[in-house]
Amino acid sequence: MSEMPITSQWLSALPKAELHLHIDGSLQASRLLQLAAKNSVQVPYASVEEVEAAYDFTDLQSFLDLYYLGASVLQDESDFYHLMMDYLLKCKEQNVVHAEIMVEPQTYLPNGVSFSTMMSGFKRAITEAQDSWSQSVLLILSFLRHLSEEDALRTLAQAAPFRDQFVAIGLASSELAHPPEKFERLYKTAREQGYLAVAHAGEEGPPGYVWGALDVLQVDRIDHGVRSIEDADLMSRLVATQVPLTVCPLSNIRLRVFDQMADHNILELLDQGLRVTVNSDDPAYFGGYMNENFMAMEAELGLTRTQALQLAKNSFTASFLSEDLIARYIDQVDQFT
Ligand code: HPA
Ligand code: ZN
Repeated sequence: MSEMPITSQWLSALPKAELHLHIDGSLQASRLLQLAAKNSVQVPYASVEEVEAAYDFTDLQSFLDLYYLGASVLQDESDFYHLMMDYLLKCKEQNVVHAEIMVEPQTYLPNGVSFSTMMSGFKRAITEAQDSWSQSVLLILSFLRHLSEEDALRTLAQAAPFRDQFVAIGLASSELAHPPEKFERLYKTAREQGYLAVAHAGEEGPPGYVWGALDVLQVDRIDHGVRSIEDADLMSRLVATQVPLTVCPLSNIRLRVFDQMADHNILELLDQGLRVTVNSDDPAYFGGYMNENFMAMEAELGLTRTQALQLAKNSFTASFLSEDLIARYIDQVDQFT
């Protein structure tokens, strides 16, 4: 007998974790304009429609140019509070019970924002969400790979007073021409300090960058990694080790990694036995949060309930939560019908 199709109601009730989310990528157009006006930051847009008209990307770099411009409106503690709270309210609405959120201090520090301003706004929102609806959150300290390794090491040192607020480090921004090997010393230093590690690799970059992230940076998880499919040995390695991939379907379409959702390889990766998860990456810019990503897979790839349940379980097993907590969330998915 064939399965019932996925409905958005069913999906909304399914407990899920999000593991690949740039907090700046959740800056909604209306919030961007409000903060630009409040902080007297010049942006070349007069309305939500004009901001959204700029969401017409040709590749990763064309998106990053707008993404960094957007983040320049964030200035004081309350701005960071609202940015985080807007996203956590979405988690509540979509039953994303756990989120691992990337924070990129190198985006704000040159604008005169202090590390502690940023962290206190984020922390205030996270504490409120934990207290009022038991939202679970971990933070990832993410570095910008178009900048130097020295800059990243200086930023890692500045993060020292906030060490206990981050579970892992990450690596984002322009991938091509900035291979993982550029950050070998950064990852070694951070791992010695007890950070876990993730890195973007194999989004626009070749499978060799995924090998570099695994072997040189020794990451615990790969962000994106969809180009791994071009290398059979790499696929075997990912199946054998179960190093997770945090895949972002709508992002990959908007940034033209695949021409259309029907061409996306996420279900092939899942079928081949990789530990794949679904994530939104930069939901304000890419047309949807977690549930919209699942629904697009349902519409264009024929995602089944069995596959969606597997992806939800993977989101917890691939997380940096304790084994106990993972087991508890897996039970919740197992009891979900
Ligand atoms: N890739 C690299 N850097 C990023 C991305 C991405 O998809 N989103 C935000 N920063
Ligand atoms: Zn990303």
